[in-house]
Amino acid sequence: MSETLLFSPLTIRGVELKNRIVVPPMHQYSAIKGFPTDWHLMNAGKFAAGGAGLVIVESTKVERRGCGTVGDLGIWDDKFVEPLGRLVKFIKQQNAVAGIQLGHSGRKARATRPWEGDRPLQRTPEIDDWDEWTPVAPSAIAHSEKWPAPRALERHEVKDLVQAWGEAARRADAAGFDVLELHGAHGYLVHEFLSEKSNQRSDEYGGSELNRMRFVTEVTEAVRVHWPDHKPLFVRLSVEDNAGWGPEQSAHLARILKPKGVDVIDCSSGGITDVAPILGKEIRYSYQVPLSEYVKRHAGIMTMAVGLIIHGDQAEQILRDGQADLIAVGREILNNPNWPMDAALKLGVEGPFRNVPPQFGYWLGARDKRGFGTRPSTWQNGLRDPGKVS
Ligand SMILES: Cc1cc2nc3c(=O)[nH]c(=O)nc-3n(C[C@H](O)[C@H](O)[C@H](O)COP(=O)(O)O)c2cc1C
Repeated sequence: MSETLLFSPLTIRGVELKNRIVVPPMHQYSAIKGFPTDWHLMNAGKFAAGGAGLVIVESTKVERRGCGTVGDLGIWDDKFVEPLGRLVKFIKQQNAVAGIQLGHSGRKARATRPWEGDRPLQRTPEIDDWDEWTPVAPSAIAHSEKWPAPRALERHEVKDLVQAWGEAARRADAAGFDVLELHGAHGYLVHEFLSEKSNQRSDEYGGSELNRMRFVTEVTEAVRVHWPDHKPLFVRLSVEDNAGWGPEQSAHLARILKPKGVDVIDCSSGGITDVAPILGKEIRYSYQVPLSEYVKRHAGIMTMAVGLIIHGDQAEQILRDGQADLIAVGREILNNPNWPMDAALKLGVEGPFRNVPPQFGYWLGARDKRGFGTRPSTWQNGLRDPGKVS
């Protein structure tokens, strides 16, 4: 299979992605007071060098109160623009597109890192702005018994927050990012507004489905004021949350957001409760792909599929079946940052090292031309004549 959809370019607005492979946002819990560190440069850098078309930097918080852990990245001040720009520069040098996800943890803020137990943080002297880090949410409803109740946002604070997302978009543009994703999933602030489980407000931001969609709609409008027309805007949704919000609501929201300037819905699930939505009977390969297909069909918008997409031919099939326009590979790219190269080889793509930097692409290409490498056919043919190696 030399002509693949996975390795065909896609232009969204004024931005061309060299292939359909996306590194989705993945928290590194490694920022210092919101600032990226060398870890972030190395992390985003290795994915960009590995050949992905688009690398989306983790959920970066639009205000201090929105930080999930002490290690979250921030973008609530202009001081973050330059250090984030360093990541962008490196990603672009590898011929990849640099994206960033904007987020706010809402009532799930002020928690430990996942490997420290994923529970509410205790006050420590190291956190010198503890009281400024109060978790806020649409209503004072705790995520579960394990979590403290957040403070309900005042109406004027909701308005301020909308503007904070807009300002964050301005900074993301100034840092040089070319794709912006709004985090509307996983039980964080935007999702908390959408869900009637977490949103019991009596003002225009609560009540009916349309009212609950108002926050993300206003956020999108505020973002589009600052985010240039030629740059794509994605929104990640928990298309199914198993708590009253499902594909129908998500497609409805996508139809509202599309004319406001949203180009792609990144289709995830869950997070508003601790019970993962089980679509069908169990979590399996491509388990969220039907959600992407549903939104794509019912909202007429491009979608990104994510969730246990692990193999190149699996990704290619999703695209061929018209279930998504982009494929995000998360944990598997942690396992193998060179996944795009690997997938290209396994799919038999012409010039599998074309998209990676010559520092290693040149040598791997030369080896491949001699018939040695990781193509399945090479493996199946067994060892070659060692005399041919030079
Ligand atoms: C370490 C880690 C951090 C994550 N951080 C984020 C994040 O910042 N924003 C987000 O929307 N999803 C986040 N996710 C979810 C991933 O983007 C992705 O949706 C999920 O891992 C499922 O895809 P996969 O099966 O390919 O890993 C994270 C996942 C992992 C493993």
